[in-house]
Amino acid sequence: TSRKYLIAGNWKMNLNSAEGAELASQVVSMFGQQTDVSVCVCPTFTTLEAVSKVVNESNVQLGAQNMHYEASGAYTGEISAEMLRHLYCNFVILGHSERRQYFGETDETVNKKTLAALEANLKPIVCIGETLEEREAGKVSEVIKTQTEGALSGVTAAQAENLVIAYEPVWAIGTGKTATPEMAEEVHAEIRCLLAGLFDEDTAEKVRILYGGSMKPGNAAELLAQKNIDGGLIGGASLKANDFGGIVEAAV
Ligand code: G3H
Repeated sequence: TSRKYLIAGNWKMNLNSAEGAELASQVVSMFGQQTDVSVCVCPTFTTLEAVSKVVNESNVQLGAQNMHYEASGAYTGEISAEMLRHLYCNFVILGHSERRQYFGETDETVNKKTLAALEANLKPIVCIGETLEEREAGKVSEVIKTQTEGALSGVTAAQAENLVIAYEPVWAIGTGKTATPEMAEEVHAEIRCLLAGLFDEDTAEKVRILYGGSMKPGNAAELLAQKNIDGGLIGGASLKANDFGGIVEAAV
């Protein structure tokens, strides 16, 4: 296929602007010149500007971890898509399970944010995934369908080409438990099928579907070898240049 791997580091609530700039410069020195794989780092809001200056003029791209769906106004504590664009963000993570779990994010808010991001020329990395309880109850397909269709309501096929989906089984996040490549591939293939239904086959083939959840240099290659796994959304391992670098190497 023609899909270029995307390896995105989700730094979560870690690294101040000085620490973030330092890590970003290590990533730039390793991968700033290559074009085989899309590499993206997603710092906190307060670290975005410092990292933006470091990755500027390299091939390392910038993403945010969240945004608000309105363009501006009386929304204390929120950040708009345009503000992210102003710092040269290309990507924005939306609906991460931690935001769903701790900050009341729902399919409805994820949908509003997805539409606003696409409208502002930001590429949304829409996160979906089941909890352990849901997996054990045999509800994986149902959860994936509800979350995918919920997040993407109103998105056009033309817009969908800029869309990235991240499948993150909640039980694999930060736990050291990775889905086996076969388990992940099964869900990724289902997601691609859902995308074909929502848009069309051609469009579905263009959407990158990332895997997330305890991805490391040691398990990246076998996950990335799966037909429908087009990259990774990396948490813990993205905080160390060598680990993150090892995952990018596995994608080259
Ligand atoms: O966004 C990243 C995921 O939540 C994965 O986190 O690599 O620390 O398991 P993790």
